[in-house]
Amino acid sequence: MKKLLCLFCSLSCLAVASQLEIYDDKELNLLMQTEDQREMARLLNEVGVRFEQWEALQPLTASSTEEEIQEAYRIDIERLKMENGFQTVDILRMFPDHPKKVELRQKFLNEHTHNEPEVRFFVEGSGTFFLHVGGMVYSVLCEKGDLISVPENYPHWFDMGADPFFTAVRFFTRTDGWIAYFTDDPIAQRLLEKN
Ligand SMILES: [Fe+2]
Repeated sequence: MKKLLCLFCSLSCLAVASQLEIYDDKELNLLMQTEDQREMARLLNEVGVRFEQWEALQPLTASSTEEEIQEAYRIDIERLKMENGFQTVDILRMFPDHPKKVELRQKFLNEHTHNEPEVRFFVEGSGTFFLHVGGMVYSVLCEKGDLISVPENYPHWFDMGADPFFTAVRFFTRTDGWIAYFTDDPIAQRLLEKN
């Protein structure tokens, strides 16, 4: 049984709050910003993105196992699987001393799509999804307790940061996982350089 150990949890959980920023995709000017999770959900729902907050059925600790994590969120996990036909669920961990953190960050830092939804629930830690839709870029900083579902064929990228730390539940509709199709649009790099 794999143990999930985290020495950074309390620090990371205090350090971030869910946040939405919206930029135009030409000049990359910041048009609006909010940390109100209801407003975030409303604005994201308007562009087809699900954003929710889940609460654990029982407390988790730094030594909680993957099975204990899935049990703690069993009702929401099963609801999502039923609603969307997801076949499998797994747990992904990233941590600041991960040996491949630089290449993994870089890989998903370029705009891409998938032919199935990209769904993540953040058990702890944080990460930022960037959604490119309707002439806008939606920057969604997800933190502990946030669920985000990016629709299939939806241009997006993900930044786990230079010192990544998160534990996330992933949902898949196919047992062979998903493939990233890169768009070759440099918008992700442009936004990174601007900020
Ligand atoms: Fe992706």
